[in-house]
Formats: sequence, structure tokens, C-alpha cells
Amino acid sequence: MIVCLCKGVSSRTIIDEIHRGHRTLRQVRAACKAGTDCGACTRQIRQLIEKANPTERPSG
Ligand code: FES
Repeated sequence: MIVCLCKGVSSRTIIDEIHRGHRTLRQVRAACKAGTDCGACTRQIRQLIEKANPTERPSG
């Protein structure tokens, strides 16, 4: 499923980046460009990070 329409980034790609060690919103943005345009997908990206890291709060 595409999460970031502006950059055409799927949830799969975002989850892969989280598993590669990008555990903050800023890191995920830098890694795959999701959330770097209009920002409408930011909440969904945060949710994916939270799901992958239930004890950590996404920041930045
Ligand atoms: S939908 Fe992701 S930056 Fe616009």
C-alpha cells in the first residue's frame, strides 16, 4: 500500500527502512523521502514506526 503519495513510497519500503535501523521520523524521511513533501503521510509513518518499536516514541 502506498503511504506517501507525493513520493510514491509504500508501507513495505518504510517498514524495510525501519528494520534497517531508521527508527525516527527524521531517519525514515532521509532514507526513503517519504513525508518530505506535503507531510500528509507523517502520521502514518509515525504509526509504522510505533508498531515496529512499541517501546520507543518516534521523534524528529
Ligand atoms: S503524501 Fe507523503 S509527503 Fe505528501
